[in-house]
Amino acid sequence: MAKSGRKAGFETLGKLRKKMEDRPLRLLFAEDPNRFQRFSATGAGILLDYSKNRIDEDVMAALLDLARASGVEERRTAMCEGEHINITENRAVMHMALRYQGDRPVMVDGKDVMPDVRKVLADIKAYTDAVRSGDIRGHGGEQITDVVNIGIGGSDLGPAMVTLALAPYTRPDLRAHYVSNVDGAHIHDTLKGLDPKKTLFIVASKTFTTDETMTNAHSAREWIADTLGEEAVPNHFAAVSTNLEACAKFGIRQDRIFGFWDWVGGRYSVWSAIGLPVAMAVGYDNFAKFLAGADAMDRHFLETPLEKNLPVLMGVIGVWYRNAWGFSTHAVLPYDQRLSRFPAYLQQQDMESNGKSVTLNGKAVGWSTGPIVWGEPGTNGQHAFYQLIHQGTDVIPCDFLIAAQPHEHLPPHHDKLVANVLAQSEALMLGKTEEEVVEELKAQGLSKAEIKELTPHKVFPGNRPSNTLFYPQLTPEVLGSLVALYEHKVFVQGTIWNINSFDQWGVELGKQLAKALLPKVQGKASGEGHDSSTQGLLKYYRANKAE
Ligand code: F6P
Repeated sequence: MAKSGRKAGFETLGKLRKKMEDRPLRLLFAEDPNRFQRFSATGAGILLDYSKNRIDEDVMAALLDLARASGVEERRTAMCEGEHINITENRAVMHMALRYQGDRPVMVDGKDVMPDVRKVLADIKAYTDAVRSGDIRGHGGEQITDVVNIGIGGSDLGPAMVTLALAPYTRPDLRAHYVSNVDGAHIHDTLKGLDPKKTLFIVASKTFTTDETMTNAHSAREWIADTLGEEAVPNHFAAVSTNLEACAKFGIRQDRIFGFWDWVGGRYSVWSAIGLPVAMAVGYDNFAKFLAGADAMDRHFLETPLEKNLPVLMGVIGVWYRNAWGFSTHAVLPYDQRLSRFPAYLQQQDMESNGKSVTLNGKAVGWSTGPIVWGEPGTNGQHAFYQLIHQGTDVIPCDFLIAAQPHEHLPPHHDKLVANVLAQSEALMLGKTEEEVVEELKAQGLSKAEIKELTPHKVFPGNRPSNTLFYPQLTPEVLGSLVALYEHKVFVQGTIWNINSFDQWGVELGKQLAKALLPKVQGKASGEGHDSSTQGLLKYYRANKAE
């Protein structure tokens, strides 16, 4: 879309907002008994109810026009065809190839990548099957019982989130742990209680240079060498990286190095060999089902008209709130305890992708981009921050996620969980009017004066928007679909905002400064040249650090 067309699209949204300001959700539902039917859609086994949003047919038409005019369809094709849409790193964006279930070639830079993708998957299968069966053991011949993944960002959040989500598919005698933070407490507390003879480390780093990961990897190496001897190291380490040379240099056996490619971004890498600890924990077949679920969502995203396309619908509704209403945060609230790490995963997925303020041409964007993404599982959140969502001064669009079937046979629990999630979206949408509060308090026998005093505190403004995602059960397939759904949603939004959703230069400056500060923190160089705050903090640290 020409820049002006996109701008015109945003202007139309501004006008539509004015119209919708007088049409609260309570009224929209009262007017239209078929609102759910009109504003819900399914894809790859997931039901999206988006009826509790501040939308009507005109708004949706304008949003989809904006998506079309912004080139969502063209950019989607460009991504599939291996164009270097990550322009600042001059890379293709091909994570969909990692889960592709068809038999057509997938071309990147003139080469069909599918044979290499399948070869790495076969290697993952062979290795994880062998560790799980005990064919591959620790140095002293003991069966591996604990796998520790060392990685950070995309090399941690994805597999850690998936392993927890698929807990019903894990075995009690093979546990996966995740160490990411350079804070020594993380690796210390993880290794406490583990037996080195039965522990396998996976060093996961796309670049194999990330300081946090390499520091943790060296500490783990020392732990093995100190307890089992240097010669034990090769039997207790595997690596996942695009930097095969650096893995070999670290001392990882050639046949325990699992590669991937520069066309897979860190936050899109759980589908690659970065998923090795997942395959280890849940078995390769379940990992393969996770990939197949994502592919089903890819097909939905690529083949469904925009009007019924889940990632597109979620993407444009997010744009509506961010740009026409100025809502700056978005809550993801899984009513699924095993999705506790899903909001954290999405923080990288969404905020590292769309936390940008220049367009693809390097000009300042003329509109707001990615929202702050946050969340916690329901019902715990209900007893913590939901107060603000219901009655605070900010409007926070929410996504509620819930399975129809749990994995446990504890009948009262799940019905209660479902009742809670439905109650929350209904309460947010309806609110409670002054008249309703007065009636309620009268019925409780309160005096006129008491009613007058209490009423304002008990009014709920309502008209607070949410999506509900309902799925049959949190199986590997469904989880794959869910994750891919959010990936594509972020893509749609990044395209509308005309930004590069695939680089992350914003994390570099802090890394550079930390490197420069380290000798000063260690007392090997003076802190001169820094601002007075940094110098003051350095001085405090040096005066108080452990000897
Ligand atoms: O946080 C920046 C980042 O580059 C992420 O994009 C990436 O997922 C993470 O660091 C880890 O990088 P690597 O896998 O190369 O260690």
